Amino acid sequence: MGTIDVHTHHVPQAWPALPGAEAPWLRVESASDAVIMMGTREFRRIRSNCWDASLRLADMDADGVDAQVVSPTPAFFSYGLPPAEAVEVARIFNDLALEIVAPAPDRLIPFCQVPLQDPDEACRELERSLANGHRGVEIGNHVGDLDLDSEGVVTFLQHAASLDVPVFVHPWDMASTPRNDRWMAQWLTGMPAETHLSVLALILGGVFDRIDSRLRICFAHGGGSFAFWLGRTENAWHQRHDVIGTSEFPPSHYLGRFYVDSVVFDERALRLLVDTVGAERVLVGSDYPYPLGERPVGEVVTKSGFLSEDQRALIQRGNALRFLG
Ligand code: CO
Repeated sequence: MGTIDVHTHHVPQAWPALPGAEAPWLRVESASDAVIMMGTREFRRIRSNCWDASLRLADMDADGVDAQVVSPTPAFFSYGLPPAEAVEVARIFNDLALEIVAPAPDRLIPFCQVPLQDPDEACRELERSLANGHRGVEIGNHVGDLDLDSEGVVTFLQHAASLDVPVFVHPWDMASTPRNDRWMAQWLTGMPAETHLSVLALILGGVFDRIDSRLRICFAHGGGSFAFWLGRTENAWHQRHDVIGTSEFPPSHYLGRFYVDSVVFDERALRLLVDTVGAERVLVGSDYPYPLGERPVGEVVTKSGFLSEDQRALIQRGNALRFLG
């Protein structure tokens, strides 16, 4: 049985220009090349494996991947737009995603995006997308200055839990500062820190205490810096309980409440994840088809000598089946 990859992205070739000078748009250069543009700035050059199912399936076959979750590229979340415009963006994006996965519905599993700045509209778009064939939802790890413990986001997460829909959390919209804009620091330190903060928001914000325990939620990039700094957080919870937040229990109590993907590139990091959250909570993710993704997909899991065969099977496939429901 092959691997299930829960972390891949698409960009529809027919993506229309968004309103707003800084909004992302797609400059198509040829049948196989395009550039994601932020206003007049080149954000990322992409290839047709972003939208062409046959190329994706060929790469999956080469890497032993049975199925992949196909999620939006976070640059297009559009949480900063007025809600009515963001609804339109999500609808177009989600409908185009269904066209991308149509050639192989049993192997390409679409996750939708939602206008998370408007929880009611986000719930509506989730329901509309599910009715049309989406199987889960990818959300950004924050909405402007609001983290995942904000009332609106919790309302949405509760709705996803009540619908039994998996949620994949992806960092995005990292701070752009002179220091962060060097060396890909937005991706190398910004993304792991963003994801770390999101896990903390669910724990320290008391979300896991009050939300339906059926919520199935997975964090990208191994949960960012969370696992490495769990001890520090745990210590802070005991030493500074006056300021650290509202969770009923210490952070380690909530380790069974979320999943993380495996795209950490290093056996030592994978071992820390497995030791921290458990082999039943780590899923193969790759970040395909982007340059900071892992190829062959799941290689760190395949090659890590410390995993038992049972653990490896869970991480490659079994956990994903449970996450996806
Ligand atoms: Co990604």
